[in-house]
Amino acid sequence: MTNEVHHGLEGVLAGESAICEVDHKSGGLRYRGYAIEDLAAHASFEEVLYLLLMGSLPNQSALAGFQKGLIGTRAIPEKLFDLLQDISPSVNRMDALRTAVSYLGMGDTDREDNSHTGNLKKAIRLTAQMPALLAALHVFVKEDNSDSPEPAASHAEHLLGILTESKPDAFSIKALEVALILYAEHEMNASTFAARVTASSLSDMHSAVVSGIGTLKGPLHGGANEAVMEMLFKIDQLGDVRIYLADCFAKKERIMGFGHRVLKKGDPRSDIIKQYSKELGERKKETKWYEMSIKIEEIIREEKGFYPNLDFYSASLFYLLGLPAPLYTPLFVCSRVAGWTAHIIEQHDQNRLIRPRCRYTGEKDQTFIPLSGRK
Ligand SMILES: CC(C)(COP(=O)(O)OP(=O)(O)OC[C@H]1O[C@@H](n2cnc3c(N)ncnc32)[C@H](O)[C@@H]1OP(=O)(O)O)[C@@H](O)C(=O)NCCC(=O)NCCS
Repeated sequence: MTNEVHHGLEGVLAGESAICEVDHKSGGLRYRGYAIEDLAAHASFEEVLYLLLMGSLPNQSALAGFQKGLIGTRAIPEKLFDLLQDISPSVNRMDALRTAVSYLGMGDTDREDNSHTGNLKKAIRLTAQMPALLAALHVFVKEDNSDSPEPAASHAEHLLGILTESKPDAFSIKALEVALILYAEHEMNASTFAARVTASSLSDMHSAVVSGIGTLKGPLHGGANEAVMEMLFKIDQLGDVRIYLADCFAKKERIMGFGHRVLKKGDPRSDIIKQYSKELGERKKETKWYEMSIKIEEIIREEKGFYPNLDFYSASLFYLLGLPAPLYTPLFVCSRVAGWTAHIIEQHDQNRLIRPRCRYTGEKDQTFIPLSGRK
């Protein structure tokens, strides 16, 4: 055992995985060997989900069967819908979503089945149920939790339709689909690691996903996309990007949506989502959010040397899609559940308990004094 401590586990290889490759030298990102650029341009979210869970891309008939399975398991229990509607809108939506997944776990027919088949069934069900969960958590949606008005709709169309209560246009669906694909998986990020640690004790899939949600919530991880939108709103009110950032620099505040533990020379996902944010702004004739974002990017790169990560341009994209800011991190969950569940399956299939060590830095050899004798 080495005595060297790697703070934040930076640079530590915590295991092996055949799911996702983050090539920090070239900056490339691949899901099971497929470049993220190709998947974003040509694949549907369902194909990517299939790829992550099953290990290969589906042919047409396999995909059709898979989609049918997803559509058939979209509904959530009526009691859960009522419970979510009762949660105060002031409660963080990630806290409510964490509770919802925990509830679903208690009622899942395969809850104690950690076999490959049992886990696959739960992974598909949970991913399919996410849009209904978000709709129930979205304070403005009062309708019931029945299946999509158009049951044949793709996952992205269903999600956007149910959250905006409208029939979305083709470009908006594609833009959300690309965001879902880009957010789906990213190797041993903090929430995936948390999910794998939970799974490694042979706990169940829903418990592991709950760990993932709790970890994703923080602003250094998934909470960043929501924080980016808050920053854009503040800058819009102030009317000056430079003044806002100068104040942040003076206070030594972190700029949300910038920097990455692994991708120090830029995030390939950001380049893709940036183009969709730009085009959506042009189509909606609301280019100010993109223009503001471009200015922020220029200043941060010039003054701090940080590159935008996926969360930065996703914020303006989600806004232009008509989605409310408190749902941005839950939308990340909607997608990352694909990666988490693929990792949980991989962990259970080749399990060894994850239990690292830490260096003790506390007091030593203390003399115990009974309570009555302590000052
Ligand atoms: C993602 C993140 C946690 C990775 O950081 P990391 O590699 O672990 O680096 P550290 O947190 O150790 O920070 C190293 C230094 O860079 C600075 N830094 C890192 N990201 C920064 C940011 N976005 N804005 C300003 N400063 C930043 C830190 O303040 C620290 O400075 P110091 O050495 O003077 O104290 C970090 O870049 C960050 O907080 N980004 C903003 C949140 C975000 O967008 N999260 C989504 C990630 S995909």
